[in-house]
Amino acid sequence: MTKIISKNIEEAAKIIIDGGLVVFPTETVYGIGADALNSDAIEKVYKAKGRPSDNPLIVHVSNIDMLKSIVLDIGPIEQSLIDSFWPGPLTIIFKKKDVIPSIVSGGLDSIGVRLPDNSIALELIEKSSPLVGPSANVSGKPSGTTINDIIDELNGNVDIIIDDKDTQLGIESTVVKIEDDTAIILRPGIITPEDIESIGIKCKLADHIFDKMDIDITESPGTKYKHYAPTSDAILIYSDDEHKMAKKIDDLLQENSDKKVVLLSTNYYMIDSDNLIDYLFLGKDNYEIAHNMFSFLRKADSQNPDLIIIEGVKKEGIGIAIMNRLIRACNYNYIEIN
Ligand code: TXA
Ligand code: MG
Repeated sequence: MTKIISKNIEEAAKIIIDGGLVVFPTETVYGIGADALNSDAIEKVYKAKGRPSDNPLIVHVSNIDMLKSIVLDIGPIEQSLIDSFWPGPLTIIFKKKDVIPSIVSGGLDSIGVRLPDNSIALELIEKSSPLVGPSANVSGKPSGTTINDIIDELNGNVDIIIDDKDTQLGIESTVVKIEDDTAIILRPGIITPEDIESIGIKCKLADHIFDKMDIDITESPGTKYKHYAPTSDAILIYSDDEHKMAKKIDDLLQENSDKKVVLLSTNYYMIDSDNLIDYLFLGKDNYEIAHNMFSFLRKADSQNPDLIIIEGVKKEGIGIAIMNRLIRACNYNYIEIN
């Protein structure tokens, strides 16, 4: 039985200390929390998510002393990133100390760590321990950002769910790894390459951000699995030219006239098509789109359409993170029209 609470964080902290699982809010997405120092608890997280255990989990801390207790060394670039972006949606890769069991890191000698910007998360960590916190969803599905979606998907698989309403940002943290003098973005997020460059740190995107690649698992372990995907078939389309976009949507609706279609768009279109069973507007800017994206994918999917047509955004700023998720949600079924 899963208990849903919104206060009494002590009760949730006790569950963590006893090796249980607590879904906790962060500013990005909800996480499935467990004691990062307890292998048995971590085992339960992989099980609740149905996640392969070579896909490492990030660790959430509530202060810098706690960070120092789990990582070997904080380099100068890592320190600048911490000073500028913590608490916040940035996960930094460090060499780990032995107190972190290798099941957390999927056998790697490094771990991703972040200090979240959410008072409930920080209180829970303070009162228990460093927490692992993969997104609160079954592995491969869109990340959990609304409390109802999470209850639907994880009820019965965790001990407690802490209800803190919809998450603020809606998309998981930016993950960076420092190589020489450069921050390599392994997973894009709300903290953009420009944000990192603005504090004088060189930054580049890892090669796999938009592509399906058979990359070395030690480089970027999370990228080889199916991700963020609705059950229905989905296609992602993008053009800088709104007229071309409108035409493509029209064409797709006609080509699929025998199918039930849901459209997720980032512009308003006048569409009159019998096979369009729902039309959801993702948002007027990238913040709004990031905030709505995962819950709207679920909303679209819940109507069991034959096809979800998704309109993308320009791959710049936060648009990089949005497109990174949407391209995977569509299983790389992506058309860019020039
Ligand atoms: O916003 C977030 O980061 C959310 C919330 C709940 O905090 N958490 C989250 O955790 O998304 P998780 O475990 O689902 O994602 C961790 C990401 C994965 O892409 C994983 O491959 C990468 O970080 N990662 C973890 N440890 C790593 C390591 N040692 N080296 C490279 N990448 C690592
Ligand atoms: Mg996830």
